[in-house]
Amino acid sequence: MTSRRQWLKAALAAGAGLPLSLSLAEQLMAAPVSRAERLHGIEPLVNGKLIRLGSNENPYGPSEKARKAIIESMSEGNRYAHGVVQELRTTIAQREGVSPEHILIGAGSSELLCLTGMTAGLEGGAVLSAYPTFRLLMDYAVKFKARWDRVDLDDKMVHNLNAMASAVKSDTKIIFVVNPNNPTGTLLDNQQLKNFCIDMAKKATVFVDEAYVEFLDYPEQHTMVGLVKQGHNVIVSRTFSKVYGLAGLRVGYLIGQPDTLKKMAERQIWGNNNQAGLAAAKASLDDKDFVQMTKKKNAEARDYFCKYLDSKKYFYGKSYANVVLFPAPKDGKMILEETEKRGFQIRVWDYQDKEWCRVSIGTLDEMKAFTKAFDQVVA
Ligand SMILES: Cc1ncc(COP(=O)(O)O)c(C=O)c1O
Repeated sequence: MTSRRQWLKAALAAGAGLPLSLSLAEQLMAAPVSRAERLHGIEPLVNGKLIRLGSNENPYGPSEKARKAIIESMSEGNRYAHGVVQELRTTIAQREGVSPEHILIGAGSSELLCLTGMTAGLEGGAVLSAYPTFRLLMDYAVKFKARWDRVDLDDKMVHNLNAMASAVKSDTKIIFVVNPNNPTGTLLDNQQLKNFCIDMAKKATVFVDEAYVEFLDYPEQHTMVGLVKQGHNVIVSRTFSKVYGLAGLRVGYLIGQPDTLKKMAERQIWGNNNQAGLAAAKASLDDKDFVQMTKKKNAEARDYFCKYLDSKKYFYGKSYANVVLFPAPKDGKMILEETEKRGFQIRVWDYQDKEWCRVSIGTLDEMKAFTKAFDQVVA
């Protein structure tokens, strides 16, 4: 175990709370989502050390076109990237059929989730989300003194929109929906989600995180961008980290009402975009072949893994993304320790008094190797 990890582990083991001695970014970087992760610690992701089935990354990226664009962008490495941000903003706006003022670009969508959570906290009130889901926005909101109201998924591990609608309160500022969801990969019915957004946007800002939408067969039928165009109080977030395979290059964006985005932009850290990430993002947008290849390979590897889970009779919600959540067959801490010893990183979540394994979909070969190792771990 690395000394850094030992330090994080010691700092985090103390209990449910996050220690004050760590910076906010470090607390969240190391943020354990379960008792098992607090006890075991989370291995800092050192390149090449473990097979990474813990962060829903794209094992095939960056694409050839993105790599070429990154190399070419190096000749501009001595220049601030403000103009390039504006170019990408305009390109994305044209693709989405909105004005550039409807787009806010960030250093990954995480920056924008953090900004949204922080704003909700600073303005006072609450954020509402399903649970389990990608929790960064809510973690930030709570750090800035907002209340986090959460609603369990339904029995198919899908967002329970009726229960969420009932949980909206007069001080709810943000209603956060992830579709497809992380950690489950589950997908909401398009029309039900649309109706929900239209109704709820009268009460609060509805934030739909579409980090995995490009994994769907027809993303355009599932996106909520149409509601932004119609003027509803809806924000959609997207990222270049998943299907486009650029997680380490940090580019994401929001599509929302210009006034809302303008307020958020005022709190954004100045100048945190970079030439390489922006160039890679721009080159990736039109790289249909790479996106198709990623989707095809991901679907093959996910099918393989789900068949494995079926053969063991493990329950899971149907995943449309590059991640699957299923009940931990043995003690979560032991599973983390033993999978790591065999060279894999996965995550363990707590939900409804049970432990759950969250496994990201890697290449088919990685999934084959992982299922072999997992058989040994839970034997
Ligand atoms: C639902 C969801 N949103 C946002 C992110 C953050 O992505 P990034 O900051 O790399 O854009 C993730 C990462 O796993 C995610 O699962």
